[in-house]
Amino acid sequence: MDYDLSHIAPVWGRVTNLVVERGEGCYVYTTDGQNYLDFTSGIGVVNTGHSHPKIVKAIQDQAAQIMHAQVNCYFHPPLIRLSQALNEITPPHLDTFFFSNSGAEAVEASVKLARHYTRRPNIVVVQGSFHGRTAQTMAMTTAKTVYRVDYQPLPGGVFVAPFPYAYRYGMNAETVTNFALRELDLILHTQTAPQETAAMIIEPVLGEGGYVPAPPQFLQGLRRICDEHGILLIIDEVQSGFGRTGKFFAHEYAGIQADIMVMAKGMASGFPISGIASTREIMSKWQVGTHGGTYGGNAMGCAAAEATIKVIKEEKLVENAAERGGQLLDGLTELQSRFPVLGDVRGLGLMVGCEFVNPATGQPDPIITKKVVAHALEQEHLLLLTCGMYANTVRWIPPLVVNEAQINEGLRKFEQALMAAIQ
Ligand SMILES: Cc1ncc(COP(=O)(O)O)c(C=O)c1O
Repeated sequence: MDYDLSHIAPVWGRVTNLVVERGEGCYVYTTDGQNYLDFTSGIGVVNTGHSHPKIVKAIQDQAAQIMHAQVNCYFHPPLIRLSQALNEITPPHLDTFFFSNSGAEAVEASVKLARHYTRRPNIVVVQGSFHGRTAQTMAMTTAKTVYRVDYQPLPGGVFVAPFPYAYRYGMNAETVTNFALRELDLILHTQTAPQETAAMIIEPVLGEGGYVPAPPQFLQGLRRICDEHGILLIIDEVQSGFGRTGKFFAHEYAGIQADIMVMAKGMASGFPISGIASTREIMSKWQVGTHGGTYGGNAMGCAAAEATIKVIKEEKLVENAAERGGQLLDGLTELQSRFPVLGDVRGLGLMVGCEFVNPATGQPDPIITKKVVAHALEQEHLLLLTCGMYANTVRWIPPLVVNEAQINEGLRKFEQALMAAIQ
């Protein structure tokens, strides 16, 4: 079917040109009657699968009651119920919530809160970070130059520390952790003094930067350094949250406490809502009126998020992410033993990356990565995304409702695509 696409801005990087009209669970259906196994989850959003009936109903019911009960003007039941539902699933000390619309907007809110609370200006990010595309979050994003090229100069006060990326540095987890913590200490001695550093922000699993889990010891080290200097630790769980990694939030693996946690994507199964969680003590210092927004805390978004949390619990999707993630990691590790272009396979739960390299040189190979993804799409009807600083990692991020047979189907299709691309 031919469509006139000429009025749609071409700025969006395109993964496919499919025109989808319907989604159900792990599959999407195009207007010309094709179906695809969707392991993109709309970039990690539809954790409960496409158009889960219980979430659809919650949105429909809420739309019939009131769509936009603006939070400056009134409280509304979904807002109150969502804050309680979040309070049950977030770490106990994170008991106060602010809502906005996108991941970037929530990251911005976390930075504003950290600056306001500490009265300090600077932020430390890690190499390979992705925090969004607004001016502030672009300045905090170092996953690829494409996110910032021709937009400079960006807001200042952002300093970049190395991420403990064991495979890239050719080190083991302990050595790379010690290296990254030493370099961070150097930055605090040479670039941003602790007394002018408001916060450090990190994704517990580097997302756009290549699906690399941070070693727990590194997150513990960050917490220690922040405590020493009165710096806040912001954990960006936008991509890794809401059960994705086999825990409700990925930083729980490290047993650390965030001062502020950022949430979006999987929070409401596709309805645009995001938020930050912090302690009552920190939130109470955020001066009334210094932050807000027209749509944050929108009644339909809150209803969708509340229903999402309920479905994740009822259907044991956190547990399923851990089990199916194990199955996926085992399957990919087996493929790695037969396909030397798969240099590294890693991940937590259903947030798994496989990094493509040239086996002769060990260098990143974005060309073969692109070929495999194209074969998967065109011949196998398997939708995959890439990530990584050199665009040489395939990220596996299926809906958390995925079952054993569907993981096997994905692996089989991926193997076919690998064989076709390598010939
Ligand atoms: C870790 C992380 N933070 C922030 C964002 C920005 O979210 P949004 O695209 O909703 O603004 C993303 C988006 O991919 C992300 O992965």
